[in-house]
Amino acid sequence: MKNTVFLNTNREMPLLGLGVYKATGENEAERAIVSAVENGYRLIDTASVYKNEENVGRGIAQCGIPRSELFVTTKVWNTAQRLGDIRGAFERSLDRLKLDYVDLYLIHWPVPGCYLSTWKVLEEIQKSGRALSIGVSNFEIRHFEELAKVSDVVPAVNQIECHPLFYNKELIDYCQSRGIQVQAYAPLARGAYLDHDVFCVLGTKYCKTPAQIGLRWAVQKGFSVIPKSVHPDRIRSNADIFDFSIDQEDMDLLDTLNQNYRSASIPEDLRDVAF
Ligand SMILES: NC(=O)c1ccc[n+]([C@@H]2O[C@H](COP(=O)([O-])OP(=O)(O)OC[C@H]3O[C@@H](n4cnc5c(N)ncnc54)[C@H](OP(=O)(O)O)[C@@H]3O)[C@@H](O)[C@H]2O)c1
Repeated sequence: MKNTVFLNTNREMPLLGLGVYKATGENEAERAIVSAVENGYRLIDTASVYKNEENVGRGIAQCGIPRSELFVTTKVWNTAQRLGDIRGAFERSLDRLKLDYVDLYLIHWPVPGCYLSTWKVLEEIQKSGRALSIGVSNFEIRHFEELAKVSDVVPAVNQIECHPLFYNKELIDYCQSRGIQVQAYAPLARGAYLDHDVFCVLGTKYCKTPAQIGLRWAVQKGFSVIPKSVHPDRIRSNADIFDFSIDQEDMDLLDTLNQNYRSASIPEDLRDVAF
């Protein structure tokens, strides 16, 4: 299968990327990026709140791949939204990353009372050419409906927690019907399904690991996946998902495992209002 997708901006995005949340050890993100690029990854997903953009920038500079062949995502955090300092936050991210532009700039969370005005600034940033695509993360249908009242620019991506234990089909169908690319974060559910019977049985059937079964389920549905690892062996094996396909009956079986299980936490100050 093809391992890239075209966004509604007509920009091409790899289906597979490296997540670097919690890769904050000395040179950890840098080493992970170099290893990921060696293993075929071309997408790196960071965020200002991960506190590793400088290290990510060094990894990008060192990985030996021309900038134009990489797809770099970062995100604007909630504090900047509340302060109304989106442009400042964006400039600081570019400075830390040592980049002239990012491929994708996301609103990290739909902060109530802020995310609509944040989006209008992202539109300006995109027009300036320094974010080739703009999108959102952790948006529910009602956030998109509110956004559509103030903007004709449809987000290119919705980055959401997504894996077989948390399969929000209604939201995903909504995004897919509007040309919003779904990007699955925590696609390994941070390890929660790696010893699950169904994943182990399917792993044996397809000669793959449970992690590869979960990641393949997502890309086979057309979602981009951004598994995080700082270990070269895991980085390599998480990428080895494009040489097999899961039969429809097994895809259907995996679909039945949804239990709305969130492995990633919701920021404390959004818990009452975000969902
Ligand atoms: N937009 C958002 O709000 C949001 C929220 C959460 C995450 N994200 C993004 O999505 C990325 C991925 O999500 P995540 O990091 O939360 O969770 P994840 O990718 O589901 O899981 C990462 C965890 O699994 C381990 N791991 C990786 N590959 C493995 C393998 N093959 N076998 C066993 N364990 C493995 C990693 O440890 P090692 O590193 O030690 O290998 C790490 O502890 C993040 O890094 C971030 O870029 C975005």
